Amino acid sequence: MQSITPKQFQLISSIAKEYWGLNLSERKMDLVCNRLAKFLTRSPYSSAEEYLDHLTQHADDEDRLVFFDILSTNVTSFFRERQHFDYLEREFYTPLARGTIALPGRRIRFWSAGCSTGCEPFSMAIHARESLPDIDKWDLKILATDLSNSAVANAKTGVYPEAMVSGLDPALVEKYFKRGSGGQAGMVRVTEQIRSMVSVARLNLMDDWPMKGPFDVIFCRNVMIYFDRATREKLVNRYCALLRPGGILAIGSSETLSGIDAPARSVAPSTYVK
Ligand SMILES: C[S@@+](CC[C@H](N)C(=O)[O-])C[C@H]1O[C@@H](n2cnc3c(N)ncnc32)[C@H](O)[C@@H]1O
Repeated sequence: MQSITPKQFQLISSIAKEYWGLNLSERKMDLVCNRLAKFLTRSPYSSAEEYLDHLTQHADDEDRLVFFDILSTNVTSFFRERQHFDYLEREFYTPLARGTIALPGRRIRFWSAGCSTGCEPFSMAIHARESLPDIDKWDLKILATDLSNSAVANAKTGVYPEAMVSGLDPALVEKYFKRGSGGQAGMVRVTEQIRSMVSVARLNLMDDWPMKGPFDVIFCRNVMIYFDRATREKLVNRYCALLRPGGILAIGSSETLSGIDAPARSVAPSTYVK
């Protein structure tokens, strides 16, 4: 395994914090070493030192994004943390269908912030189709953003190993996924109908955001765990500024907003309303 010195780890941590808000504690040192070693074997750099020199002296944004991909964790799955979808069913789609929530222009906007390879926004789209009668009469759009080049590329194609849908209701798989054949055997692709509901874009959550909102629902799940408290507080306030009053913010089930000063009240585990 490629080893790095504490000083090199400090340098890596400071790059991660400065550009992407990532808070790499020393506990992450082995993980970083492992991933860096893997990268170096297929790179033109002969050592961590040479690569870090390049990163600090000559790197442009694209070079840095390669480094972000080395550091970031893209674990995700379809209908992960089901409780948020159940909450939406109860508190969003049912009142919407009954007319107790009225949305001007029948406009519904979702944002999956830190969408990884796309399972989260595609789950939102499938769930919307399953939950909202007459869905085509609504102007529903889902924005999906992530900083990782590889994750964004995957989300744009909507292609996954079959194993990733093996835990889903077979009826949903039949309806919303196409099985690959030939060179794509063993893979599934989200149908065009579902892909067309989702716009995928690269976005660093630390940068300015081009979108104006308002959003009805923002999912930022299992992303802020990598940020320190001050970064989380700033981010949650930025989400709240883009949510309509009554809009919903879902965070990962292992995360909390306790101690975070933001105009969002807790309504269910890891679920907040502006
Ligand atoms: C563990 S995944 C979570 C995916 C999905 N939200 C879920 O819960 O299944 C965390 C994602 O956050 C993204 N991420 C981390 N820091 C980011 C930043 N500063 N800007 C945008 N995305 C970021 C990573 O690239 C990664 O895809």
